[in-house]
Amino acid sequence: MDTYIINGRHKLDGSIRVQGAKNSVLPILAATILNAGTSIIHNCPELRDVEAALKILRYLGCSVIRQGDTIYIDSSQLCKCTIPHSLMREMRSSVIFLGAILARTGEAVVAHPGGCELGARPIDLHLKALSTMGAEIKEYAGNVSCAAARLRGSIIDLSFPSVGATENVMISATTALGTTVLHNAAREPEIYDLQCFLNSMGAKISGAGTPVVTIDGVHSLHNTEHEVISDRIASITYLACTACAGGEILLEGTIPDHYRSVTDVFCRSGCTVTTGKDYLRFRCGGELKAVSPIVTSPYPGFPTDAQAPVMAALTKSKGITVFIENIFENRYRHVPELISMGANIRTEGRTAIVTGVSALHSASVSAADLRGGAALVAAALGAEGESIVSGLSHIDRGYEHFDENLRKLGASIYRINDTYRSEQNGTKEKAPQNAQ
Ligand code: EPZ
Repeated sequence: MDTYIINGRHKLDGSIRVQGAKNSVLPILAATILNAGTSIIHNCPELRDVEAALKILRYLGCSVIRQGDTIYIDSSQLCKCTIPHSLMREMRSSVIFLGAILARTGEAVVAHPGGCELGARPIDLHLKALSTMGAEIKEYAGNVSCAAARLRGSIIDLSFPSVGATENVMISATTALGTTVLHNAAREPEIYDLQCFLNSMGAKISGAGTPVVTIDGVHSLHNTEHEVISDRIASITYLACTACAGGEILLEGTIPDHYRSVTDVFCRSGCTVTTGKDYLRFRCGGELKAVSPIVTSPYPGFPTDAQAPVMAALTKSKGITVFIENIFENRYRHVPELISMGANIRTEGRTAIVTGVSALHSASVSAADLRGGAALVAAALGAEGESIVSGLSHIDRGYEHFDENLRKLGASIYRINDTYRSEQNGTKEKAPQNAQ
């Protein structure tokens, strides 16, 4: 299992280009199978989760070719309508393929995605919506099966603005008979990007980004090309790393409008932010001030995916910050690891009370989930001494070239594999994989 070795307190300086959005490219890759033809998707980051989605497309019978950050998909030879447990297990958000497979073939059988580190992750809203559109749904032996010769346009009211359920409805309703009106839809920027992609292949969708999305079913779709938006959570994570280590960075190819709720928090904590349409300059000079409360909520509220990285930044601050995590029931797994670095945090259910300290010290910590792992890297960048972060398979799910980008900004971070660690414990000398 690979680990990062991080020597903290190196100020960050310089510019990096932000990756394409993981949470945009995943539903778009699923949606490509609606059209029995080709889709060309640009700005696709190299991530474990994207590779998992490509594996599913190939399993279903699509041809998939990656050239740099462009992916060419030909789904004309799609020949399966099932996703086995082995593939679902790799990425639980593969449930986003359900609506696309059902709409294309008339049936879909996927292994129930089950829970993950963040919580139970139910899919009841997805299934209720597809059932309303006429799908016959059965759950047996850990599988979910859906069948419908042709889905029918319906009025759907989500009890919670679920991102995945919104995406499954938009995708499956694209070729349904009649119009679907989705109320209490999620409003994340990735929803709007999905609408742009679907409309570029001939769909008739409007309202994405507002609570009401209308999908007029169409009979046929055509080939298309699309560029995925920038990853707002990756942008936020680099800001948190800079807030921890201090310094000034320029994010290029970012969309500041997509994460204003987070840059507002950083500004209130004493950082400086200047923005343009596709860049953001960020400076963190001295000690941060606590900013309280920070309450996670659906977009445009404070994103749950930003909670861990921003908490890492505010562990070293003046004052007390209260976090309230309203989206997932188990999203504080980074807290014990931050405490082992000297942070002062107390959690009670969905509340975390962070009493700022003046410094963190190094520790050997382990990532338990994607954003919590990124938070540990951020904290280590601002801690005295050499820290070790393990569990990188979680981080690799969502951050492209993470340590390379941080090294480019001046961080002392190296990725080493187990072999090197065992050799280090012996006598052989060998430089880490990517030592400068
Ligand atoms: C998406 O997950 C993102 N993943 C998550 O990012 C993100 O944290 C989340 O939206 C919230 O913004 C992708 O886009 C691949 P939800 P999703 O459905 O769609 C409950 C990351 O780090 N719910 O909006 O699964 C659910 O339990 C990941 O990149 C139901 O009760 O999120 C949760 O409490 C983590 N029934 C809440 O809604 C359902 O049928 C939000 O879930 C569906 C969801």
